[in-house]
Amino acid sequence: MEHTEVVKPETLDDLIKILHKIFESDSINVEEVQGIMEAYDSNPQDWVKYAKFDQYSTFDGCSKKSNCTWKNRYTRNLVDEGNGKFNLMILCWGEGHGSSIHDHTDSHCFMKLLQGQLKETLFEWPDSKSQGEMVQKSQRILQENKVAYINDSIGLHRVENGSHTECAASLHLYSPPFQSCQTFDQRTGHRNTVKMTFWSKKGERTPFETTFSQENN
Ligand SMILES: [Fe+2]
Repeated sequence: MEHTEVVKPETLDDLIKILHKIFESDSINVEEVQGIMEAYDSNPQDWVKYAKFDQYSTFDGCSKKSNCTWKNRYTRNLVDEGNGKFNLMILCWGEGHGSSIHDHTDSHCFMKLLQGQLKETLFEWPDSKSQGEMVQKSQRILQENKVAYINDSIGLHRVENGSHTECAASLHLYSPPFQSCQTFDQRTGHRNTVKMTFWSKKGERTPFETTFSQENN
């Protein structure tokens, strides 16, 4: 494979343009995508319009400790559809929000921290024949601007904002895009298929009916 220089994206729009170019190719170089996403220095001015929190507040209100009191689930906000090759979205996590343990439907999953910190816990796939507590492989804290990568061959994960005072925002790229995934019960390994929905698309709140189901990534 020929070596490509990592160009530093100055803005989120810039990053999206570069990603479109990279994904014109049919084969994905994980390190290249990870590198370019990491090279972008998160600037809230670029992405605050997409960062829609549940309830009444906007992301601005969340930078103050006392305002970070969202009780509901984290939100998924579509940023770009990547010419059908990938979905780019921003997830907004209030204090204590977390995902279920889930898979990634045979897709690549890149996750960049735009603000705050998230805890990622990795699990092994459960044995489909026996029930029991799922096996935890590792745990790490993802710091601002870092990019994590996972796919189904690496395992399953749960993502959580463990902070009780700060919210978090993360930029996720899934390729190819997918609309449903499996979630897993940590105690039994029992799985469910869950349809994924968007809280907003390109900065606009999506109609309520379509955001009614449980949300996961
Ligand atoms: Fe995930």
